[in-house]
Order: sequence, then structure tokens, then C-alpha cells
Amino acid sequence: MNINNVGVVGAGTMGNGIAHVFSLFNFNVTLVDIRQDILDRALKNIKSNMTRQLNKGHIDNDKLVESFNRINSSINIRDLSHCDLIIEAIKEDLNLKSNLFRDLNSICSKNTILASNTSSISINELSKSTKTPENVIGMHFMNPAPVMKLVEVINGTNTGKGTTRCVMEIAKTIDKIPIECNDSPGFVSNRILMPMINEAAYCYQEKIATVESIDSIMKLGMGHPMGPLTLADLIGIDVCVHILNVLYKDFKNDKYKPCKLLADMVNQEKLGKKTGEGFYKYEL
Ligand code: CAA
Repeated sequence: MNINNVGVVGAGTMGNGIAHVFSLFNFNVTLVDIRQDILDRALKNIKSNMTRQLNKGHIDNDKLVESFNRINSSINIRDLSHCDLIIEAIKEDLNLKSNLFRDLNSICSKNTILASNTSSISINELSKSTKTPENVIGMHFMNPAPVMKLVEVINGTNTGKGTTRCVMEIAKTIDKIPIECNDSPGFVSNRILMPMINEAAYCYQEKIATVESIDSIMKLGMGHPMGPLTLADLIGIDVCVHILNVLYKDFKNDKYKPCKLLADMVNQEKLGKKTGEGFYKYEL
């Protein structure tokens, strides 16, 4: 299948990172969200991240301008009707995502690939809301999307081989490394990552070490680029708690239950980088 037009729904951190990457690799991108101010903020972020790449000499000014201009924004999902591939990166809520997939399925061609950037919601569940489950797949980008090489490609039970092949190819075209797995709670990435973050939070809750020490032990001892608590702040404490709850509920195993400290942080709106405070403080 020839993919030229890519739609991205949800202009938060992941959505704007995904739009950024596709535009740099010459795809026409339509970025959709429910409000213009969210889109304006996303476009500002994309420009600032592209400028970072310009300043590092990875792209020149012509490439920045061309790529940025290839991104159209809209508050109307009907503007995605011409897209060959649509990636949703909206709130992690099964009902919202299912409704979106149902609507996209009725607006777009029956060949359009509907991909989800979900971090833990079942691809099989999402595909039930469409008439074309063979075109539904997980395309899980990592944060920050413009930098991280992995795309975790999640096959649902009914995902067609052609859909998987197409998504694997397109991920390589945008200079990512796609790796396949089957639909299962947390897929591979978050099933392994989230228990580590949870244990790091337990270490802090139980006063075994300071936040900085926990992060430094994992960075220096295990060669991680970022400590688990810094990473939790980058991902969002609410997102971590949500994924842990999905693992806890779906596997019915206490080992995935979110640490009380993480749940308290969510209640106090200490969600990490995006709210200016998590395990660390940030300037907004
Ligand atoms: N856009 C464009 N470029 C960016 C960027 C962005 N948003 N963020 C960072 N960069 C660039 C920087 O400009 C820099 O470029 P050069 O190499 O050319 O100098 C490069 O990325 C490295 O950035 P920094 O020098 O600022 O910092 P760093 O060396 O510490 O790297 C990092 C930052 C890449 C984020 C690194 O710390 C890292 O790999 N951290 C782990 C991130 C991770 O684990 N992500 C996965 C989270 S899990 C997830 O996303 C899935 C989920 O479902 C929860």
C-alpha cells in the first residue's frame, strides 16, 4: 500500500512528536485535536523541537520550513478522510479510543490503516469498534518520539499480515526500528518498564535512598540513560499509574499494584514534567 497522507489524532506530547517525525520524512501530516489552543501549543512544540535539531546541525532551515509546512492542523476529524494511515494518540481511555476508531472507520476508506499509539489498551478491544479489524494495529512510539528509535508494533489477533508489513515498512522509512509483538497487557515495553518504575517508587517510599540516589544507582549501575524516577516524570506519573492498573487488573496479580506514593502523587497533581513537579521540580 502506498502511504502519502498520515493523520495523527491527539496533539499532546506523543501526538506532536509523531507528527514531527512523519513530516521530516516528507509525509503530508494532518494533526487533529478537539481544541485550537491545544493544536497551537503542539505546533509551537514541534517548531521548538525542530529548531533544536536545526541548532544541532541535523537539519537545515529549508528542511525545517518545508517539514513544518507539511503539517496541517484541524479540529475536525473529517479532515482525515483522505489519510492512508491514521495514528491515534489521545487519552488512554478505551471508550474514547473505541468511539474514535468507529468514527474514523466510517469517514475513511476501507483500506485506511488505523493504528493506536496506546501504551496499554488492548488492540483486540479497539478493533472490535471497527468493521475492518484487519486494518487495526498498535504503533507504539517511545517518548521523546523524534529521538527514540523503537516503534513497538502490536499485532491484534485479527490484524492482517499486509497491515503489519505496511506498518513495519513505514516505520523504517521514518528511520525507526520497528519490533513486533502480540497483543497482551502492557505489550512488552510497559510490562517490563512499569514494574521497575513501581519498585523505584517503593524504594523511595520506604526511605531506602533519596530520589537522586535511586536514579544514579540505576544510571551508573545498569547503564540506563535516565534513572527510573526521572523517566516516570517524563512519561507522566498518571500515565504510569494507569498502565500499572491495567497490568494489575488484567493479570490479576498484586505485583503490578501501583505503589501508594505514586497514587498520592496523582491525587496531588504531581504528574511530573508536564505539571512542573513530580519526583523533581521543573520550570514550565
Ligand atoms: N525533539 C528533538 N530532539 C530531541 C528531543 C525532542 N523532543 N529531546 C531530545 N532531543 C535530542 C537532543 O537535542 C540531543 O541531540 P544530539 O544527540 O544531537 O545532541 C539528543 O536528543 C539527546 O538529548 P539531550 O542531550 O538533551 O539529553 P540526553 O543525552 O540525556 O538524552 C534522552 C535524552 C534521549 C531522552 C535520553 O535521556 C533517553 O534515552 N532517556 C530514556 C527515554 C526513554 O526511556 N523513553 C521511553 C519512555 S517509555 C515510553 O515512552 C512508552 C510508554 O508507553 C510509557
